[in-house]
Amino acid sequence: MSEDNERRDGPAGRPSVTGGGSAGRADGASEASLTDGGVSETTLDPWGSSTIDDYRKLFEEFGIEEFEEVLPEVPNPHYLMRRGVIFGHREYRDVLDAMRTDEPAAVLSGFMPTGDPHIGHKLVFDEIIWHQRGGADAYGLIADLEAHAARGLTWDEIDEHARDYLLSLLALGFDPEDGELYRQSTNRAVQDLAFELGAKANFSELQAIYGFDGETDVSHMQSVVTQMADILYPQLAEPKPTVIPVGPDQDPHVRLARDLAARMRFFKVTEAYASFETDDAERALLAEAYEALSEARSASNESNGERSDPRGPAESDGEGEADGDEPVRCEEAAAYVAATFDAPALVESLENAGMEPLRPRVRFLDRNATEEAFEALIGSVEGEKRVYEGHVDAFDLPREEAARLAREVEVEHGGYGFYAPSSIYHRFMTGLTGGKMSSSVPASHISLLDDPEDGYDKVTSATTGGRETAELQRELGGKADECPVYELYAYLLAGDDDEFATRVYDECVGGERLCGDCKEQAARLMREFLADHQEKRREAEELLESLDLELESPRR
Ligand code: TRP
Ligand code: SF4
Repeated sequence: MSEDNERRDGPAGRPSVTGGGSAGRADGASEASLTDGGVSETTLDPWGSSTIDDYRKLFEEFGIEEFEEVLPEVPNPHYLMRRGVIFGHREYRDVLDAMRTDEPAAVLSGFMPTGDPHIGHKLVFDEIIWHQRGGADAYGLIADLEAHAARGLTWDEIDEHARDYLLSLLALGFDPEDGELYRQSTNRAVQDLAFELGAKANFSELQAIYGFDGETDVSHMQSVVTQMADILYPQLAEPKPTVIPVGPDQDPHVRLARDLAARMRFFKVTEAYASFETDDAERALLAEAYEALSEARSASNESNGERSDPRGPAESDGEGEADGDEPVRCEEAAAYVAATFDAPALVESLENAGMEPLRPRVRFLDRNATEEAFEALIGSVEGEKRVYEGHVDAFDLPREEAARLAREVEVEHGGYGFYAPSSIYHRFMTGLTGGKMSSSVPASHISLLDDPEDGYDKVTSATTGGRETAELQRELGGKADECPVYELYAYLLAGDDDEFATRVYDECVGGERLCGDCKEQAARLMREFLADHQEKRREAEELLESLDLELESPRR
């Protein structure tokens, strides 16, 4: 991949939000960024204040997948998806498939009640609501234990903010009849699940993921397992694909939750070629060796005319175990692997397996199964199978079928059968003053509770991607990709109206739009949005009171 296209444009001329926020701005908002020479390091710290300098790194270093790739499969994608604000995902296809086929699916996200909900949180509220309207079971939670443990907020402060988050979520259209809102502190099922999950993680791991050390207090660690339980909570009654919409700073939590979900499973389903165990890398080499050797074998059979295939060469598929071929033996594969790859451990395993034929199969490894569950699994595997100590190999089962079977047996025997949770990631909004949008810097963000006039003023005072003079702007066009005001249009003010967002973008970069007017228009829209939202918040109050939620914590 070429290294020099630092700032890509959106897909196919579509204005999308692709810039690295304030990276490299002339107004001095931020200097060190990965785009100019790898000065800073991308770290994902859920409790830090890191900006994401380079979204590309998230794909390369952390294995987040590009949202663009699944976008065509999304029915009626949300505008945040269409505009590239939602830029990444982990295994989101599982959720899409379930939603498309009316199978159970869920969406869940959580909010730390440390300040006012602001327009950045609105992205997540919208994401939850969009999935709810698409048929997913929806959950919104108040991470009050985390706010107390990791941020040291008092319960009074927490209660006040919790209420504000919930009101905005309801005002934007969350349907509490059809979804669930909860506080961590009052959800006993979440706390119990957290305790169980805690048995699958140890301190060294939290240290490696979050940088915890001997000074980290225990409640902070407990808030981590609580979040793990939040993420898996939608699957307590029944396993289902679940999406967690979050900012990329939460990705460490998502990865840990995916690991823990797997560690709780009764069985792990993998593919294998022989009776011995391999790791993923070895399995890939083995697959290659197997392909190469069996292909070579059928090719030589055809050309020698030995053992002629009654279908004739043209119809023979030439793959896998061609009929009548001698099987590929492990010792043979050992020689091939030794000559082709640098994998001494694999060579040794193959040599020890000697005359055993290599044969592709799916393998069920017993992770946490009870004896009865393991027996039941063996009984339900159809076709040829081989039972070993701690695993069963099935020779006639497609992998997906095997995964389904493993989950079914687990659930029948009292296990959770968790799907690894999926996630989608949205870009952080640039602060109105350049730099990061931060709850602790009022001018940098617009709170959903801001007086509409203040919202108006904040927009008119915002930093822009405009040129020094109107003449230059007409000549060169504005830098919409680096403009916090354009972001306001794309993320919020243009709403579902793509044509409007595109027009703002085109007029800006084409030099027809000047920043004064552009900000005035945005400021008015913001004022309108805030007034309207706050009206809806007032209307939602009654609904909030009617819900079975403890708005005042008895904790002190
Ligand atoms: N840690 C999240 C934050 O800092 C809040 C949170 C708690 C959360 N539980 C969650 C987010 C579950 C997503 C899913 O905002
Ligand atoms: Fe930003 Fe609007 Fe100015 Fe363009 S015209 S740089 S979008 S404020």
